[in-house]
Amino acid sequence: MDLPIGTVWLVLAIILITAIVTKIANARVTFDPVCTRPPPPVVNNIALIKLLPTLCTKGPEVTMTYLYNKFGSVFTVSILWKRITFLVGPEVSGPFFQGSESEVSQGNFNEFTVPMFGQENGFAVDSSTRMDEIRFYIDALKPSQLRSHVDPMLREVEDYFGKWGEVGVVDLKDEFNHILMLIASRCLLGKEVREKIFGEFYTLFTEIEAGMNFVSFVLPYIPIPVNRRRDRARVKLTEIVSEILRSRKICNRVEEDVLQKLMDSRYKDGRRTTEAAVAGMIIALIFAGKHTSAVISTWTGACLLTHEKFLDAVVNEQKEIMRTYEDMIDYNVLLEMETLHSCIKEAGRVNPISIGLVRQAQKNIIVRTKEGVEYDIPKH
Ligand code: HEM
Repeated sequence: MDLPIGTVWLVLAIILITAIVTKIANARVTFDPVCTRPPPPVVNNIALIKLLPTLCTKGPEVTMTYLYNKFGSVFTVSILWKRITFLVGPEVSGPFFQGSESEVSQGNFNEFTVPMFGQENGFAVDSSTRMDEIRFYIDALKPSQLRSHVDPMLREVEDYFGKWGEVGVVDLKDEFNHILMLIASRCLLGKEVREKIFGEFYTLFTEIEAGMNFVSFVLPYIPIPVNRRRDRARVKLTEIVSEILRSRKICNRVEEDVLQKLMDSRYKDGRRTTEAAVAGMIIALIFAGKHTSAVISTWTGACLLTHEKFLDAVVNEQKEIMRTYEDMIDYNVLLEMETLHSCIKEAGRVNPISIGLVRQAQKNIIVRTKEGVEYDIPKH
């Protein structure tokens, strides 16, 4: 398999930054300030260099499987001055999910998102403000709120697919990316953006998204063209969001979108969210939601198209439900599509969106493998 150089860099970046890889939480974990057990086995620089061809030709999953088979479920990759410990599998992944922020934190791995999302939210602010922000996200996206987004989503989907011909060839990933951007702009940002300036918004968002590349990840503030475009686009997008917020306030207009929910949110200390913070949160939401949803939709489509039995089951289920509800679709009707739901979950399980999650050990962490061996992962 020929991988483009960009992909190879991305793969390398993922390997470089992945401090702890895990799949399901379930381990016995304790946090101990004193090192009494051995550290995990180390994959040294020479072994890593030997693995580079595998990494470049077969990808990170094959490389990790090789290391897992050789070293077991806990091993450390040591690159220059960085130690990166991988936790693979359910038996050892507890620290990741059970550890508090003072034990395993997001560290500064996400520094590159600061110029993307701005200075007033995300990883630019203190942890209590960030917790408030996560609460705003949860409130804005909880099922009772999502109910009101089904109609606008349907309208987007019907308009979009209504333009498809009866036969033809499409790139599923491009199609889902586009439709999800339309849905995101309508449901998150609202009709001002969707109906008037979708094209401009799309271009600006794409320029911000381009800030997620290997160089910007390592040196987020270096003045290279891609970073300059990212910064300009964020400033412009913030202006657009600010204008919308102001015009809603002036006209006393209240909308049903996520922008409105974020605008009406209050931090624990009673402060209102600022225009820049709302803009940053919206960019972060689209960033977190669009790619993941597009990828899982594409995999679901690809898997169904190659597994006729399940495709038939999904289509028949939809026909049956549509017959029952006389073509009416709402949130509850969607929930009844259990076969489709299972297919989406299975497509996501077999093709995980993220091959790893990253945390920084703030304390020494003891991990026990299923064979009963205990390792002490030192504080970063
Ligand atoms: C199949 C779809 C999705 C998957 C598999 C997924 C997966 C994840 C994972 C694994 C994380 C945690 C990352 C970490 O802790 O390092 C995360 C965080 C997040 N996701 Fe999703 N996600 C999906 C869809 C969405 C959607 C649709 C939205 C919003 C519209 C969203 C918003 C977020 C946000 C805001 C965070 C970060 C919270 C924070 O600030 O820490 N995600 N997602």
